[in-house]
Amino acid sequence: MHGLAVTTTEAIGDTKTRLHPVQERLAKSHGSQCGFCTPGMVMSMYTLLRNNPCPSMTDLEHAFEGNLCRCTGYRPILDAFQSFTKEFQCPMGENCCQNQKVPQNTISEVPPMEGSAFVPYDPSQEPIFPSELQLNDQLDKTSLVFSSDRVTWYRPTSLDDLVTLKATYPDARLVIGNTEVGLEMKLKNQHYPVIIAVTNIPELLSVERTLAGVQIGASTTLTTLKEVLQELVNTEPEHKTRVYVAILEMLRWFAGKQIRNVASIAGNIMTASPISDLNPLLLSAQCQLTVTSKERGQRTIVMDDQFFYGYRKTLVKPDEILISVLIPFTRQNEFFCGYKQAHRREDDIAIVNAGMRVVLTEGDNVIEELALSFGGMSPHTVMATATVKGLLGRKWDDDLVPEACDLLGKELALPPGVPGGMESYRNTLSLSFFFKFYLTVQMKSNSKSQPKTTVPSSYKSATSVYARASSHGSQVFQEVEGHQHQIDPIGRALPHVAATQQATGEAIYVDDIRPYARELSLALVISSKAHAKLISVDASRALQMPGVVDFIDHKDIPANNYFGAVIQDQTVFAVDEVKCQGQVIGAVIAETRTQAQRAAKAVVVKYEELTPILTIQQAIEAGSFLESEPMTLKRGDIAAGFKGSDVIIEGEQSVGGQEHFYLETHGCIAVPTGEDSEMTLFTSTQHPGAIQDAVANTLGVPKNRIVCKTKRLGGGFGGKETDPSLFALTVAVAANKLQRAVRIALDRDEDMVITGSRHPYMGRYKVGFTKTGLIQALEVDLYSNSGYALDLSSAVMARAVFHVENSYHIPNVVVRGYCCKTNLPSNTAFRGFGAPQSLLICETWMEQAAHKLNIPCDKLREMNLYKEGELTPYNHPLTDCTLGRCWEDVVKQSNYEQRQNDINVFNSENRWMKRGIAVIPVKFGIAFTLAFLNQAGALIHVYTDGSVLLAHCGVEMGQGLHTKMIQVASRVLKIPMSCIHITESSTDTVPNASATAASASSDLNGMAVIQACETIVKRLEPFVQKNPSGSWVDWVNAAYMDRVSLSATGFYR
Ligand SMILES: Cc1cc2nc3c(=O)[nH]c(=O)nc-3n(C[C@H](O)[C@H](O)[C@H](O)COP(=O)(O)OP(=O)(O)OC[C@H]3O[C@@H](n4cnc5c(N)ncnc54)[C@H](O)[C@@H]3O)c2cc1C
Ligand code: FES
Repeated sequence: MHGLAVTTTEAIGDTKTRLHPVQERLAKSHGSQCGFCTPGMVMSMYTLLRNNPCPSMTDLEHAFEGNLCRCTGYRPILDAFQSFTKEFQCPMGENCCQNQKVPQNTISEVPPMEGSAFVPYDPSQEPIFPSELQLNDQLDKTSLVFSSDRVTWYRPTSLDDLVTLKATYPDARLVIGNTEVGLEMKLKNQHYPVIIAVTNIPELLSVERTLAGVQIGASTTLTTLKEVLQELVNTEPEHKTRVYVAILEMLRWFAGKQIRNVASIAGNIMTASPISDLNPLLLSAQCQLTVTSKERGQRTIVMDDQFFYGYRKTLVKPDEILISVLIPFTRQNEFFCGYKQAHRREDDIAIVNAGMRVVLTEGDNVIEELALSFGGMSPHTVMATATVKGLLGRKWDDDLVPEACDLLGKELALPPGVPGGMESYRNTLSLSFFFKFYLTVQMKSNSKSQPKTTVPSSYKSATSVYARASSHGSQVFQEVEGHQHQIDPIGRALPHVAATQQATGEAIYVDDIRPYARELSLALVISSKAHAKLISVDASRALQMPGVVDFIDHKDIPANNYFGAVIQDQTVFAVDEVKCQGQVIGAVIAETRTQAQRAAKAVVVKYEELTPILTIQQAIEAGSFLESEPMTLKRGDIAAGFKGSDVIIEGEQSVGGQEHFYLETHGCIAVPTGEDSEMTLFTSTQHPGAIQDAVANTLGVPKNRIVCKTKRLGGGFGGKETDPSLFALTVAVAANKLQRAVRIALDRDEDMVITGSRHPYMGRYKVGFTKTGLIQALEVDLYSNSGYALDLSSAVMARAVFHVENSYHIPNVVVRGYCCKTNLPSNTAFRGFGAPQSLLICETWMEQAAHKLNIPCDKLREMNLYKEGELTPYNHPLTDCTLGRCWEDVVKQSNYEQRQNDINVFNSENRWMKRGIAVIPVKFGIAFTLAFLNQAGALIHVYTDGSVLLAHCGVEMGQGLHTKMIQVASRVLKIPMSCIHITESSTDTVPNASATAASASSDLNGMAVIQACETIVKRLEPFVQKNPSGSWVDWVNAAYMDRVSLSATGFYR
């Protein structure tokens, strides 16, 4: 950071003075839900505008490649920021609100996406970059040394100094972008006592065009590399820049902009990752590296098949420094392509990637030179030299393909069980890349030397380079009726009440709460084994480390070490045995988080490993289930159903798990008051009541001593329904023992290891159909991988069982649900709560049946949709059943049939590239399956200045629950939303709350809020009647003076 100025969202605008236009547009366009990602979004846009006040849509999309949002689905974020681009047009086109004559009181219903609806952006008003940094480059030219007790960080500014330093500290780690070394230190627990930043050495930053190509300084960032190569592509003849075009294409899919801005070419080469995206290209291009060392001076190394010779091993010696990389020009008959296949295109690591180069003889297309490099096919980037040997001298024609694939298949064959898995997919990818390359060269070389192409037109799309138009989307907001009163906010598309606080960075999440006096930090000691006996836990070394105050484990639990959402089968701290990786064994408490985390890693745990059960299949084989009997649902006569079926299909479908990936990781602060065992906990939870319950139980105190508060969550998605209890319990035990405030905030990797995820499922099904396609009978066994404890698995299974038929009427049904007990962290609630898994299994047999019955799948789905009054397998009559209407609407609105026809035509004309479309119904049941949980309470206080403080059971996690509750209160009280405030969700305002979950919180809490508000309205009625022309404040004050209570509760069930 030396010599740099850092600007954060807090610096560019705030709610008290003025919002920056970027903050304002994001907030008003519904681009902030939980808000945890919002400052990052704001600053990416701000940075783009500072560099380019009128960016294009393409610039915009590139600027956000490295930003993640788990809530909004990105459309509203892009809507907000599109308004800054030069191409911006309202997505509503002619129907844009600006073109409509809309009555004055309804204008705000239409989302303010039109640029003119916002404060205009004026780049001249931006803060000036500090002049001492702008005018003076001395800071960049100064050598620096920073030292701590653990690390010395050098930043030399001359090559000589660098060479000397590297000779003095041969084990020193060089860093440029630190995007690799940083991860090694953070996630792989590496410690580098000497680090040398090579960011300010002129020789390592220079870029020089030579006769042979372009010489790129080792420290050149990928963003600069992109600019340099683009310039050459724009100015040099096409045939010379084919490698550069391939590198540019690869850089489109290389990380995100934030990483490319700092990551370097040397960092990528020298990391020598087996899935590096640049190395296959640099190898095939035969780049030359210039390296230097004190002992041997400068030398040149060609990047050939010997360069990478082992996992993360290169021919560059440990004492050598990479100075530059020569990327050569290509020749007239030389062709070059790069390929990358990842799970998703943007910002993802490759499964397989490749760089391919061929030189053909002029006229007869005989292979003169060939280079085929692959990533993801070996422990290092590998060149298929045997294949090349077999192909040299061969003609580049169709006969080549089978032979090349045969050779490549043999040379690169991945054995079963290879690290990374997906052997057959990876093998296929390497062959298909070659086929693409073959076709591409065939088309290009033919166009040069032969008039007639031999590539069939239906093959050509296989060679096309992926191009995507800018994203666009729109959301339709229903307008409220014209007669609705102007201050009645119900039904209006209003921004989230905390959107501006979130955009300005003012919104408080747990770890933003300022430290309490004498506060301590806690870090967890977790199991590294899936299943093992605990032989010993030795914290003696950790206790000697700086800042460490204590180590706690199960012996420090005052009352009960066991807890759980349904049954108490989870431990706060493991005793004798660990049942999953990530299970908490103990915790270190220290003055700072870093001290606690370091010391936690120094606790020595000895295990005796036991055989773990990890998969559903293993659990079935071992008979390992969490409940003695399967959950069973039966309707009709299954045997008769199958007997009356013309076609019966059977099969099995697995559904994987999923990380919640809330952007705010788990965190909690426990603050003991020091009196009467009182303790307040600030947590990031969807269920404060559960934490109150668990803490009281563990500490052995009545619940009235424990208060749990939650202001907002940076995302929950089910992952914060029951999991937060564990973290709250650890800090509560520590705070209770030490009588000091204790905080925990997990790092992402800790969070992912310790917590459960979506349940993986497997369904074995048998389904009977008539020959016309009507479903007669369904028998399914559902298995969930539930992990080591029950948590909510039985409730998740209940929902899976209840959604087994998705939206289709089935007269005869048998479903059995088994919760498999495995040695994984206990899997838990996740959006959809078992239903998505069940729906996928259902839609799998639908597809299978459509093929077997030879009926188009959409027709099969449509004919089986529930109709009015039909019964679900659990005998619920579907009244007001809108499925059929919804289906017709979607088919019509999406122009489905026309699209289907277009796709059929496309697929018949394209041999290798295919398109698809499907229409799939979803029926989802809301509310808790356990009836007693469907209850909610509210508390309202009206103060004499007319302001209202509202509390209810629900937790704000981005879904806008507080906004909706304020809308509800505003309608009932007939006062503007701005008079009503919700501070937090807390167990001391509304007791015994259910979790904010089950898609019912707005309904349940909304009704409770109505009740509370109606009580107030009723109490104020006499004062309104006495003074009908008075104001809200007048009536409130009159009631107060008359000793009428201005506080009320509401309850709904
Ligand atoms: C979010 C994210 C996304 C990523 N996406 C991709 C991707 O899509 N594709 C991909 O290939 N990689 C990806 N990476 C990996 C990484 O960013 C790249 O490999 C990057 O090029 C590393 O460059 P750096 O300058 O940050 O390396 P650093 O971390 O600074 O250094 C990496 C290594 O290079 C050595 N080194 C640096 N300079 C020299 C020198 N002059 N001489 C000798 N050794 C030197 C260092 O000692 C160190 O071992 C990603 C990383 C992150 C964090
Ligand atoms: S609003 Fe983006 S992560 Fe929640």
